[in-house]
Amino acid sequence: MNRSVNAAAGGIAVDPPDYVRHRGIIEWVGSVAALTRPDRIVWADGSQEEYDRLCQQMVDAGTMRRLNPAKRPNSYLAWSDPDDVARVEDRTFICSQKQEDAGPTNNWTEPQAMRKTLDGLFDGCMRGRTLYVVPFSMGPLGGSISQIGIQLTDSPYVVVSMQKMTRMGRAVYDVLGTDGRFVPCVHSVGAPLATGQKDVPWPCNKTKYIVHFPETREIWSYGSGYGGNALLGKKCFALRIASTMGRDEGWLAEHMLILGVTSPQGRKYHVAAAFPSACGKTNFAMLIPPAGLAGWKVTTIGDDIAWVKPNADGRWYAINPEAGYFGVAPGTNEKTNKNCMDSLSEDVIFTNVALTDDGDVWWEGMTKEPPAHLIDWRGQDWTPEDGKAGRKAAHPNARFTVSATRNPVLDPDWDSDDGVPIDAFIFGGRRSTTVPLVTEARSWVEGVYMAATMGSETTAAQAGATGVVRRDPFAMLPFCGYNMAEYFGHWLRLGEELGAGAKSTGVPLPRIFCVNWFRTDENGKFIWPGFGDNMRVLEWMIGRIEGRAGGAENVFGVSPRYEDLNWTGLDFPLELYEKIASIDRAAWKKELELHAEHFEKLRNGLPEALKQVKARLEERIAA
Ligand code: OXD
Ligand code: MN
Repeated sequence: MNRSVNAAAGGIAVDPPDYVRHRGIIEWVGSVAALTRPDRIVWADGSQEEYDRLCQQMVDAGTMRRLNPAKRPNSYLAWSDPDDVARVEDRTFICSQKQEDAGPTNNWTEPQAMRKTLDGLFDGCMRGRTLYVVPFSMGPLGGSISQIGIQLTDSPYVVVSMQKMTRMGRAVYDVLGTDGRFVPCVHSVGAPLATGQKDVPWPCNKTKYIVHFPETREIWSYGSGYGGNALLGKKCFALRIASTMGRDEGWLAEHMLILGVTSPQGRKYHVAAAFPSACGKTNFAMLIPPAGLAGWKVTTIGDDIAWVKPNADGRWYAINPEAGYFGVAPGTNEKTNKNCMDSLSEDVIFTNVALTDDGDVWWEGMTKEPPAHLIDWRGQDWTPEDGKAGRKAAHPNARFTVSATRNPVLDPDWDSDDGVPIDAFIFGGRRSTTVPLVTEARSWVEGVYMAATMGSETTAAQAGATGVVRRDPFAMLPFCGYNMAEYFGHWLRLGEELGAGAKSTGVPLPRIFCVNWFRTDENGKFIWPGFGDNMRVLEWMIGRIEGRAGGAENVFGVSPRYEDLNWTGLDFPLELYEKIASIDRAAWKKELELHAEHFEKLRNGLPEALKQVKARLEERIAA
């Protein structure tokens, strides 16, 4: 077999290891090699030896540096090209056959035209480089909600990152057997090397394309080596492609953390929470309850993505398809997220943070006082004076990549084959005004409406201006692989089906809550303390689920009155609470006008039920 495959690959030796028995994979690797012309093909096996070897190779090449082992054992720091620091949403495409299937929120190009463009870009793009074949499972290997992908990449940084972020390695081929389903993911940094040409530390290309073909479930990514552009299991597969799988197969792929919360009485609940990028999902997933709420315990199942499947028992089960965290470093510290800091004590890949003189890392917000001297993420000297002048030592979207198993509060069921049952969904945006601290939806449809109209101020996770309010329905704006209006319909339909089923199983639908931790005062300062104190809101939600917490009905749903929250150990007077819990009718009138604009953009396929909710809200606001 090898000889014919090698010939088909244009003479490049494909030479799959014996344990790869899937002819479709071998032929596909051959065809991509024939197009991209790498110098060699390496089948990644996911071993520690491979990880160490690739890291050493990148240290020798200047891509990464080893951190001081006495400070940060087995850890590395990479600095990217300054033009390759975040997801590029304007270069991200959903190439469905019909434009209306991509919907108005996605960039679309006709698939044949896009294939032609990609053929041109990928032609010879791996010359002088190694093509790595990276097998990975999203979710536990062989799990009932899991899916498999194979990424072909010419970036060793991607290989080692995938090893932390997914269940990566040769065992994946056992699950696939000779003909199992997998999502093909092709990635190139787009920087071929001529014979004898010296490489740069972070190869990439100014031209970038992050392309999804939802019907054939394929991903092609060109020109970037950073984060979600390049670690294709994450946003490209686990959200954009998986959301289309979920639409077709009756499940959900969501931009949600999953946490376990155990009450002082020992009752355990699971909630899945959607927030836009860089709004503290990792902090919420690793929350440490404040002293006043001792006895409550929060454990992490996932920090970014949830795959949720309704089950025959009438409940919704969720897995975290990932196996690691690719989190935003700036702002993380012992106070804001001690569990995260503990997770980062060893075996971490840092990207675009600053280097200290003793070979460790630093980022804005890590300590109150910055060190007297640093090398910044661009490799230049940095002192606190530079910081005062507005020059950041770490890029605002600097990241850590670390295995979930480093998390001291990892939930014992995080790796469970069938996932954990979900009791509530939470939706939260970053809004300095208008949206109150927490509201429970009165019905599934009203909950879907809240999620569908979520707005958020943009952050550093996406290229472009920050702080601009944009509608980010379900925190899925850049991640939904199909028509957003149809996606709302999918949520409504699943709720209807399960709601109907609930009548026979007796299991109620998960509750839906909307939160906003980010209201600010006249000086632009956050009013709500957030972080561990978000446990107070979580406690109220559990109280609602258990039928014991009080609340007051308002135009949108039910919110806690001051006395319905547990304030033990926190001095937060009623006047402040009113500032973050109040509903300003004038502001909401404006907000509803924005909802109308948003719905107008999504009018094709927008479910009638959501228009009705909007009409009812307008009536209530006017009343
Ligand atoms: C992320 C993001 O990296 O949402 O998780 O941007
Ligand atoms: Mn995310």
